[in-house]
Amino acid sequence: MQIQRVAVIGAGTMGHGIAQVAAMAGQQVRLTDANPDVLAAGLDRVRRNLDKGVERGKVTPDDREATLARLQACASLGEAVADVDIVVEAVPEKLQLKRDLFAEVAGQVSAGCVLATNTSSLSIAAIAEGLPHPERVLGTHFFNPVHIMKLLELVHHPGTDPAVLDAVRQWGEGLGKTCIVVKDSPGFATSRLGVCLGMEAIRMLEEGVASAEDIDTAMVLGYRHPIGPLKLSDLVGLDVRMHIGEYLARELNNPAFEPPALMRAKVAAGELGQKTGKGFYDWER
Ligand SMILES: NC(=O)c1ccc[n+]([C@@H]2O[C@H](COP(=O)([O-])OP(=O)(O)OC[C@H]3O[C@@H](n4cnc5c(N)ncnc54)[C@H](O)[C@@H]3O)[C@@H](O)[C@H]2O)c1
Repeated sequence: MQIQRVAVIGAGTMGHGIAQVAAMAGQQVRLTDANPDVLAAGLDRVRRNLDKGVERGKVTPDDREATLARLQACASLGEAVADVDIVVEAVPEKLQLKRDLFAEVAGQVSAGCVLATNTSSLSIAAIAEGLPHPERVLGTHFFNPVHIMKLLELVHHPGTDPAVLDAVRQWGEGLGKTCIVVKDSPGFATSRLGVCLGMEAIRMLEEGVASAEDIDTAMVLGYRHPIGPLKLSDLVGLDVRMHIGEYLARELNNPAFEPPALMRAKVAAGELGQKTGKGFYDWER
């Protein structure tokens, strides 16, 4: 089983990046989004990332052109998923949305197609439940920005076929990622630790323990984290992190994951972090 043709559903923060790295690795990629403006903006972001790569001498102009030629924007879901080897969904972190999407996709893909979810925390078994081929469902958790971050967290549920896991691991390594394999458990190996730290940092900011900059500097210089937990929350998106926190608080029965009031207020005000220009920091757009 070899994965060469990819469909990415959702062209937002993660989807455009997943499409980019797959196309850069020589795969035929189709990208779609329910919102045509996001789809156009996603392609634009890929172009800009590649332009930056050329400017920095990391991508040749020929590779830039070849990558863009392998990347096709599709207006419909059916067009995107026909005849691909793997479908990677990167739609918002809502269980029912992902389940409904895969139920629709399952009826339109060819035999043997893998359904991969970029969920940061949701149960892979719950996403796979009721699908005709749950053995071909697994988590492929990429990190933001996808073209820079090396980690790919592969999450298998009890029914995932080991051959599917092997094939996807090979695919991930072909994209230049370092793969870790994790059992289907809330928040996997990454979000469970990272979100816990992020929520505590927000609570500290709320309590006036220190400024956002100083809380972040504490972790960067004191604990050698490459980026502080508040800035990271801004990069991920406060809405995305809030949904993950709510889910983990419930699933792990642990109030440490409960989104603090400050986070809820920022999300309600549309201050979602880098993507809206403001979160815990002001971002140039
Ligand atoms: N943002 C991060 O740093 C990050 C990191 C790792 C994993 N994730 C996970 O990746 C997933 C996507 O997150 P994101 O930050 O890219 O979200 P996002 O909001 O930036 O993008 C999601 C996109 O999905 C589209 N969409 C919604 N419903 C759709 C449908 N039915 N069909 C097609 N498109 C649809 C939306 O229009 C939107 O453009 C989530 O599960 C999230 O938890 C996010």
